[in-house]
Amino acid sequence: MGKLDGRVVLITGAARGQGEQEARLFAAEGARLVLGDVLDAPGEALAKELAEELGEGRAVHVHLDVTREQDWAAAVAVAKERFGRIDGLVNNAGILRFNELVSTPLDEFQAVVQVNQTGCFLGIKAVAPEIEAAGGGTIVNTASYTGVTGMAGVGAYAASKHAVVGLTRVAAVELAGKGIRVNAVCPGAIDTPMSNPEGVDPAATAELYRHLVPLGRIGRPEEVAALALFLTGEDSSYITGQPFVIDGGWLAGVRLF
Ligand code: NAI
Repeated sequence: MGKLDGRVVLITGAARGQGEQEARLFAAEGARLVLGDVLDAPGEALAKELAEELGEGRAVHVHLDVTREQDWAAAVAVAKERFGRIDGLVNNAGILRFNELVSTPLDEFQAVVQVNQTGCFLGIKAVAPEIEAAGGGTIVNTASYTGVTGMAGVGAYAASKHAVVGLTRVAAVELAGKGIRVNAVCPGAIDTPMSNPEGVDPAATAELYRHLVPLGRIGRPEEVAALALFLTGEDSSYITGQPFVIDGGWLAGVRLF
């Protein structure tokens, strides 16, 4: 028996990285999935692969730009048409830009906020009423290590991720009475195209992470997927409104020796 048998979950940014691993794990645990992303070719390939592996109709890709309210309405419509309802959401889509605050162009700041923060808000707004109609369920938002602390060079990103933690807390309080639990994952450095765009072998950056992160390595997207599964399934039935840091101990302190 899977931990998500009978569940219908929409995952944003599902075409690669953490969202892809969440899709693979959730499907293996019995969920039916709507995979939303602006990257259509890899999103469609993943949906096809999961359907071939686990049975027709297990996963469908939709073109979903999380900044567009009309895309959210269309994604919800696909979920209801294919699966009859929707009872889970993983707001995972995100973008990262590096710049010191005084050098950040306004349009860059706004673009980061638009995807990471507004996209998360629009997801909650579009999907929570559907989860309520389905009798309850879960929302997992993707914040960051920089959603709970600062880091030079990522001002727009950190601001947007702190906002995701705020949205998570407010949504949890507002939606608890409707049977919806809302939590956030706060990953540290995870080995995906976002933080490792060149696809460098983790062994090559081991020395850097040995000093930065107490556990001495970059995280794997599968490890974040396992936390998202915990927060989506019944194992977390008494948990809501919380940001969960998953960072190899980075936030706990640096290791000098
Ligand atoms: P990634 O860059 O591999 O994947 C992000 C996905 O989001 C991509 O498939 C991309 O096409 C999609 N996306 C971007 N803009 C979108 C939009 N407007 N609408 C829909 N989809 C969109 O990065 P990764 O690491 O998998 O990121 C997943 C989440 O984890 C993001 O929210 C990111 O901010 C967060 N995160 C990542 C960390 C890391 O070190 N990789 C650390 C902390 C948080």
